[in-house]
Amino acid sequence: MRSEVRKAKVAGVGSFVPEKVLSNSDLEDMVDTNDEWITTRTGIKERRVVEEGMSTSDLAYEAAKLALADAGLKAQDLDLILVATATPDHLAFPSTACIVQDKLGAKGVPAFDLAAACTGFVYGVSVATQYIETGAYDNILVIGAETLSKIIDWEDRSTCILFGDGAGAAVLTPTEKGGILSNLLGADGAQSQVLKVEGGGSKNPLSQSIIDEGLHYIEMEGNPVFKFAVRILGRAANEALEIAGLDDSDIDYLVPHQANIRIIDAAAKRLDLQKEQVYVNLDKYGNTSAASIPLALDGAVKSGDIKEGDIVVLVGFGAGLTWGATVIEWS
Ligand code: UT7
Repeated sequence: MRSEVRKAKVAGVGSFVPEKVLSNSDLEDMVDTNDEWITTRTGIKERRVVEEGMSTSDLAYEAAKLALADAGLKAQDLDLILVATATPDHLAFPSTACIVQDKLGAKGVPAFDLAAACTGFVYGVSVATQYIETGAYDNILVIGAETLSKIIDWEDRSTCILFGDGAGAAVLTPTEKGGILSNLLGADGAQSQVLKVEGGGSKNPLSQSIIDEGLHYIEMEGNPVFKFAVRILGRAANEALEIAGLDDSDIDYLVPHQANIRIIDAAAKRLDLQKEQVYVNLDKYGNTSAASIPLALDGAVKSGDIKEGDIVVLVGFGAGLTWGATVIEWS
């Protein structure tokens, strides 16, 4: 056995959001809510939503092109394409990853979707890391993309104010120096009921009554999810740091799942981080589920907040329930 495995690094990032902005005041005209409640309870001011006819693969494709250009690679250089999404173009198949592969012109490149809700991108990075560390593949495109606007009940004020559409992507390649130091994944299926889409799958196939009852929309018990999130973000980050032989005092920069500013602030406090060390864009984009972390990572890299040699932690949680963290020495 080799004592030193080769590592994976993030060689390029990209993101894309649709043009249409839905502000808190727009939502005031749709449901019984107000800007003050949404801002103080969540930190969200506006979110993006796709126009009719646009689907998850369209957003994923745009983000992917930018990530490939950033990495200096062509689609044909890819060995694998992963798309993390809870809102695939099609319920069963083809996978959204196959549609993105075709749009990119990455002929013959294996492609599959991965479902871990808002933790999907971190799960995807973890899968890609294994392929690179074993030497099986060199260049892997990991995309988190969502059109949550399609599965939101726009009459349910407890959920419709939270979510937005978008996509983020990263190209992972081998490295001799730094790179991904550890991945930590977790799940608790016993809590699957607190955040779910009940209808449309094999348990409750789509039918007129499923639609009439609104079971094809997101349902959420906000409080248990909130408590879980506050607990798990700090814990997941710390466990991933421990695997990497580090602790929270080593963190230079945190890229958390963008669900709620109160959840992010609680995690930052637990990890003893200053505001400048934590990326936040949920005021502009809301919670974009699997797209949230790569969208934030792209923002943090492009704004220069993340620098060569920084210890960066990606950390997320989501339906399932699931959680995950990735520790990267940025190179
Ligand atoms: O990626 C994972 C996805 N999910 C999450 O991250 C969600 C985690 N949970 C949360 O972020 C918070 O639980 C929410 C933001 C969803 C809700 O905040 P909260 O502080 O837990 O509020 P609450 O659910 O306890 O509701 C407080 C009150 C209720 O009224 P009453 O019963 O006290 O009279 C709600 O009916 O606020 C009411 N409410 C609203 N009022 C105005 C709920 N939604 C709204 C709204 N506008 N949009």
